[in-house]
Amino acid sequence: MDKLKIQGGQALNGTVNVSGAKNAALPILISAILGSGKSRFDRVPALQDIKTTELVLNHLGLTSTFEKGVMTLDAAKISTIEAPYDLVRKMRASVLVLGPLLAREGRAKVSLPGGCAIGARPIDFHLTALEKLGAKITLEGGYVIAEAKRLKGNRVSFEFPSVGATENAMMAACLADGETLLENSAKEPEIVDLAISLRSMGAKIEGEGSERIRIQGVNSLTGANHRIVGDRIEAGTFLAAALATRGKVRVEGLAPHHLEAVLQKFEEAGAIITRDAEAITLEARNGGKGTDVKTQPFPGFPTDMQAQFMAAMCVADGPSLITETIFENRFMHVPELARLGADLTVRGNSVLIRGKSKLIGAPLMATDLRASASLVMGGLCAEGETVVSRIYHLDRGYERMEEKLRSLGARIERAKEE
Ligand code: EPZ
Repeated sequence: MDKLKIQGGQALNGTVNVSGAKNAALPILISAILGSGKSRFDRVPALQDIKTTELVLNHLGLTSTFEKGVMTLDAAKISTIEAPYDLVRKMRASVLVLGPLLAREGRAKVSLPGGCAIGARPIDFHLTALEKLGAKITLEGGYVIAEAKRLKGNRVSFEFPSVGATENAMMAACLADGETLLENSAKEPEIVDLAISLRSMGAKIEGEGSERIRIQGVNSLTGANHRIVGDRIEAGTFLAAALATRGKVRVEGLAPHHLEAVLQKFEEAGAIITRDAEAITLEARNGGKGTDVKTQPFPGFPTDMQAQFMAAMCVADGPSLITETIFENRFMHVPELARLGADLTVRGNSVLIRGKSKLIGAPLMATDLRASASLVMGGLCAEGETVVSRIYHLDRGYERMEEKLRSLGARIERAKEE
C-alpha cells in the first residue's frame, strides 16, 4: 500500500488541467453494453475505479483497449448476464450494469453492492424504477435478479433525485418499447454527459439536466463516440487547496457553471474567482473567512466537495457550520483533521469548525475517497510533515494527484508503506 508524505506551509500557485470526470466515465463506459458495435471514449481518467469498470465489462464479454486516455469497448457479444460479488463489492457503481443488461439481454443478475464507508447506500430507487419499466425483480442469495422480455416505456417519478437510479433508468429506457418520462431526476452534469454519449449511439433523449427527462425507446443502438466531461470535483478540490494554502490556482478543462454553488461559497469565504469559458481561477486574499455550507443535490453544494471545503475552513478566520444532507456517515475525515489540531465539533449531521491560524503535521489515515483528499489538503496547510496512509482510497478518484500538486509548488511525494 502507498502513502503520501507532505511538507506543509507552501502556497499553491499555477495552472492544472483536470482529468475526465470519474462520475461521468463510470456510467458512460457501462452504457457501451447497450450498443451492438464498437464504442470509443476520449479523456477517460486512469483511475482504480476505471480499471475495475473495465474488468466488470470484460467479465460480461466486452473486449476493450485503454491507452493514453482513450478506451474502446466492443459489445458485439455479451457472454454472461451476471456481475459477481467479488467485482461489485470493489465498486458500488457496478450496479449500473443492471439497466443496460436488462434492456439488451432481457435478464440481469447483479450482486447487491452492500454498504460502504459513507453509508448504507441501498439501491431501492434503482429497482423501483426498473419495475416501473416492466422488470420482474427478485432478490436471491445477495443477488438482484431482473427479468423482462422487453421493457416498456412508462412514467417514473423518483422519491429522491438519485444520481445512480436516474442513470440506470435512463439507460434501460433507451431500448424500452415506447416513451419514458423520468420525473424528479438528478440534474448533475454527469447525467447530462451520459445523455450526450447515449445520443451518440442513436438514443432519443431530451430534458437531461432538468428534473424531467423524456426518452423515446428505440430497437437498437450503435457504439458510442464521446469525450468525457471535465471532473468538476477534482477542479473544486484543487481550488479549495488554493484557498486553504492562500495561493492562486487556475483549473482548466471544465465549464464554471458545473461548480457554481461551490464557487459562490469560495467567494463568500473571501476568495477572488475568475470564470472563463473552460477554466476557473481562485486567488485567496490572505486566509478564507468562516463560511456555512449545506450539501444538496445539483445545482446545490455537492456532497463530494464537503470534506475538501471543511479542510479549507479549518484554517479560516472565524467559525463555519457544515451540514451533510446526502449521506449518513460522511464525517470520517473529522477525527483525522482533528489530529492536525483542527477544532471540530460534530453535532448530528453538522460539524462546527472553529477556524485556527495553524495546524501541525501528523500521521493520518485515509478512510474514503473524498476524505483522503481533505487529509492531503490538511497536510498542505499544516506546519511540518504529514503522512497520509491507505491512499488507495485517493487513487480511486484522482489521477496522479501528487504530480498535479507538485506542479503547483506543493512538497509532496508518494512512498511505500513499510
Ligand atoms: C453518485 O453516487 C456518485 N457516485 C457519488 O460520488 C456522489 O456522492 C452521489 O452520486 C451524490 O452526488 C458516482 O456517480 C459513481 P445517489 P450514488 O444515488 O449514485 C440514497 C464520489 O466520491 N439512495 O444520488 O450512489 C443514498 O444512500 C462518490 O465520487 C437510496 O436511499 O448517489 C444516498 O444517501 C461518493 N436508495 C442518497 O440517496 C437508492 O436506491 C444519494 O445517493 C439510491 C440512493
